[in-house]
Amino acid sequence: MGIEVVTSSEPLDRLAGSVVIPIVPDGEVEGSLEFLEASLRAWIGRSARAVGVTGRVGQAAVLPPCEGMAAERLIAVGLGGSTQRTLTDVRKAAALAVKLAAEAGGRSLVWPLVQVPGVNDATVAQVLVEGTVLASYRFSRYRSLEGGARIERLAVIAGAEIDTGIRYGRLVGDAVTFARDLTNEPGNILDPERLSGIAWEVAQEVGLECAIYDRALLEELGAGAILAVGQGSRREPRLVHLIYRPEGEVRGRLALVGKAVTFDSGGLSLKPAEGMERMKGDMAGGAAVLAVLRALPALKLPLEVHGVVAAAENLPDGNAFRPGDILRTFSGKTVEVISTDAEGRLLLADALTFAVRQGVELLIDIATLTGACAIALGRGGSGVFASDERARDLLLQAAADVGERVWPLPLWEEYREQLRSEHADLKNTAGRWGAAINAALFLREFTEGRPWLHLDIAGPAWAEQGGLFGPAGATGHGVRTLIRFLELWAGCAEGRQA
Ligand code: BES
Ligand code: MN
Ligand code: ZN
Repeated sequence: MGIEVVTSSEPLDRLAGSVVIPIVPDGEVEGSLEFLEASLRAWIGRSARAVGVTGRVGQAAVLPPCEGMAAERLIAVGLGGSTQRTLTDVRKAAALAVKLAAEAGGRSLVWPLVQVPGVNDATVAQVLVEGTVLASYRFSRYRSLEGGARIERLAVIAGAEIDTGIRYGRLVGDAVTFARDLTNEPGNILDPERLSGIAWEVAQEVGLECAIYDRALLEELGAGAILAVGQGSRREPRLVHLIYRPEGEVRGRLALVGKAVTFDSGGLSLKPAEGMERMKGDMAGGAAVLAVLRALPALKLPLEVHGVVAAAENLPDGNAFRPGDILRTFSGKTVEVISTDAEGRLLLADALTFAVRQGVELLIDIATLTGACAIALGRGGSGVFASDERARDLLLQAAADVGERVWPLPLWEEYREQLRSEHADLKNTAGRWGAAINAALFLREFTEGRPWLHLDIAGPAWAEQGGLFGPAGATGHGVRTLIRFLELWAGCAEGRQA
């Protein structure tokens, strides 16, 4: 998958490809490149300043090849002073270098390892790889003509041992790539059956336990909510259960629960036509869960992790579920359907009950759940709702560590009564106001009092336009935060175990 990453100890001036030259204030070549001849360094610094690269993060420019270096071109990238820079700066700089190199027609990037205060070389290398893999992502499977040059190879030049960092950066980058690929797949290709088939293949490949519940098995379980959401589509629903069990010590047991609506038309409560095509991405939460589970065997964290993905297609049809229907959920609670477009919380209700029954100490669900959350926070970040402060704080820490935006939203008790129904235990919507909060309160009813985090990724799961870390379309938001969270939860702040 993705790009090839190598380490090299060869001198920077002898490498071909697009060679990155870090520029520090005030427009000087980074000090660690002292092995380059003084006159060459002076020339590069002058050229960088001439095109506006004075050393700040966010600045970058292509410089022509020069005497004394084998590079096809140089990419001057602002990296801030070596005593102030952060991993986030390095990740951004890596992404910028990809953008400029690709635009110039380059396919191969070369980075000298840079220093970040208080951070070891391997971790800096990890972030370089991560930024490069994320920024060079394309979804081109269905394009007859490739849309321009792509970075295919990254070489990181380092004296020190950075292999674990490279490996880890690839792992994280590949996990995000995997989630993006699934999310970008159209509804005609990726239906619940195909999604569960992919989960099965992944489980065999990396070594996870896997069980798949089809319609008959869901009926046996009594997962009435998942069945109802899926009943309007000829493509039947599935529940996927993956388990990662560590080899040695187990420091915790938790479940990641994902919403995977492979296409959300709204059902009989049909959505407006405009923008409906984006609802092929309504399985981004489920994709994130699969991506994290897929990475776990290589991460070797001392946690037992259950991945529970509820997959269905929400379509109107002669057999579709209707507003007014009363469903019996897996938990035993009944739900009156007000809107068939509030289908995500129905799927998650059953999936959460399933997760609770695995005996986990913490539930985390991730879902493109409400337009309201996207209205509140925009496309930049997700909302997190929590019944457990420690877990929430750790999740916010994890998000900050990896440079994803996650913001806390409240579970206000007074709103709970809006979910009361005349004829059932609950109704599935409570009007326009505070819809993200009401959805979260609805989910909480199915957590049986367990510590629980709910991530509403309706905003950031999908990018309207390309950005620094990827093109328009699926972003894979949440994957890196969840991986980091699991490390923190396991007490492995350093991250890498192997
Ligand atoms: N999948 C949507 C939420 C969504 C909207 C995700 C926009 C990404 C972008 C969800 O199933 C939905 O339709 N939610 C409704 C809930 C409403 C009926 C209470 C919504 O947000 O409008
Ligand atoms: Mn919907
Ligand atoms: Zn939906």
